[in-house]
Amino acid sequence: MKTAKFIVVLAGLATVHLSYADGDASEGKALYRNYCTQCHGVTGDGKGVNIPDMAVLPRDHTDTSEMSARTDAELTKAIKHGGKAVNKSVLMPAWEGNLNDQQVANLVAYLRELCCNK
Ligand code: HEC
Repeated sequence: MKTAKFIVVLAGLATVHLSYADGDASEGKALYRNYCTQCHGVTGDGKGVNIPDMAVLPRDHTDTSEMSARTDAELTKAIKHGGKAVNKSVLMPAWEGNLNDQQVANLVAYLRELCCNK
């Protein structure tokens, strides 16, 4: 009986861990500051310093309804392969060459915090 309870607790922990796509949101925040805020804004609201020159505006990452309509896989794809890969603007660069999978997962975890953990 005791063993069974232990296993249930472990299973619960594994689920919580997986739901964050193995990303570390605080690491993601630091990456976001360096690579994303010039377009997406310091607070992630899509109002970065670049926007006066942009034909398509960056996504507002604090927009809960838009962002919760995206799966983690879609966000990952957009970050790795750029806007074009998810039928969005080419103005969203592909980061695959500069960021590894762990860094991309960290960014996705931070995006979830920005949009949905308010
Ligand atoms: C040069 C400007 C620019 C930079 C830098 C940039 N983005 Fe973007 N991003 C955009 C634009 C523009 C769009 C919106 C494209 C559209 O709606 O067609 C976008 C869209 C996205 C989307 C897709 C949102 C959706 O609606 O599905 C994600 C995710 C994203 N950006 C994440 C990031 C992350 C993370 C970084 C930093 C690693 C970053 N972006 C850096 C311009 C930029």
